[in-house]
Amino acid sequence: MSERLTDKIEEARLKALAAFEAAASKERLEAARIEFLGVKGRFAELMKALGTLDKEERPQAGAAANSARGEAAAAFEAARAALERAEARADWLDVTLPGRRPPTGHQHVISRTAAEICAIFGRLGFSLVEGPEVETDYYNFEALNFPRDHPARDMQDTLFVSADLLLRTHTSPMQVRTMEKNPPPVWVVVPGKTYRRDSDVSHSPMFHQVEGLAVDQGLTFADLKGVLTAFATAMFSPDTKIRLRPSFFPFTEPSAEVDIACVLCRGRGCRLCKGTGWLEILGSGMVDPAVYGFVGYDPARVSGFAFGLGIERVAMLKYGLEDIRLFYESDLRFLTQF
Ligand code: PHE
Repeated sequence: MSERLTDKIEEARLKALAAFEAAASKERLEAARIEFLGVKGRFAELMKALGTLDKEERPQAGAAANSARGEAAAAFEAARAALERAEARADWLDVTLPGRRPPTGHQHVISRTAAEICAIFGRLGFSLVEGPEVETDYYNFEALNFPRDHPARDMQDTLFVSADLLLRTHTSPMQVRTMEKNPPPVWVVVPGKTYRRDSDVSHSPMFHQVEGLAVDQGLTFADLKGVLTAFATAMFSPDTKIRLRPSFFPFTEPSAEVDIACVLCRGRGCRLCKGTGWLEILGSGMVDPAVYGFVGYDPARVSGFAFGLGIERVAMLKYGLEDIRLFYESDLRFLTQF
């Protein structure tokens, strides 16, 4: 009888020590405490069982039970203290650890390309000006020699704000605003947002242009070609060839569309240039004398040229991108490449 009870005491002692040591949370530890040390726990039962022993067996078994329970209680306390220490450590602030650096952003590829374009023209003597994105019909069309009901207005799918206000469809209205405010000579570039009702892989309802305007004494078409060649070679590569094709804009005469030799195949013809060997990058021409009439310049004394280029177009060609929408999706996997 006593043999069996002392075995049970020893077994309870070992199990209690193992359970307290293994308890990984306060909840587990409490469950183990109730199982072994609780009022109806294993040790309480063993104490009760002492009463069934013979009188001479009782002292020895009682001492063994007391010491086993004491040992279990000490193991419980130690486990509880260890859990509390671990908990305190978990929210202890180590000020010597290096901080987490917030990731630094950088200029958007469109801003960067705009800055690069303007810097090139800056070195050629152009200054930078900016103008409003919400324009009047007068500056966007009328003073650029697009009379009301002129079919050329259909070239640009205009987004109207009211009958007379619109989102500028190009940066050309700044030609008029600049000449209105300044007597000749003017040499300006105008970067900015422009809007057209158009959307596919190569068109976005909001896009960016850089306008250029030079009005001075004796400027000719050769100056236009020279300036644009200097731009193309600085922007793309020193051996970039350009080509001028006749075109039409109401505010320039003559007008030319400007192509650069394909950046991929260098003129041999490929998928990017649709086999032509050339890529269109801008519209340009000699300022139409009719425009001088709107700003009070004397066409007998001055002449000049203007050009307008698409910033997205330039960036897509420079970086070999095929979908304009990538610029506006704010996908960091795309943006961080620049
Ligand atoms: N504004 C024209 C366009 O957006 C481009 C252009 C600018 C053409 C200046 C000639 C001169 O299509």
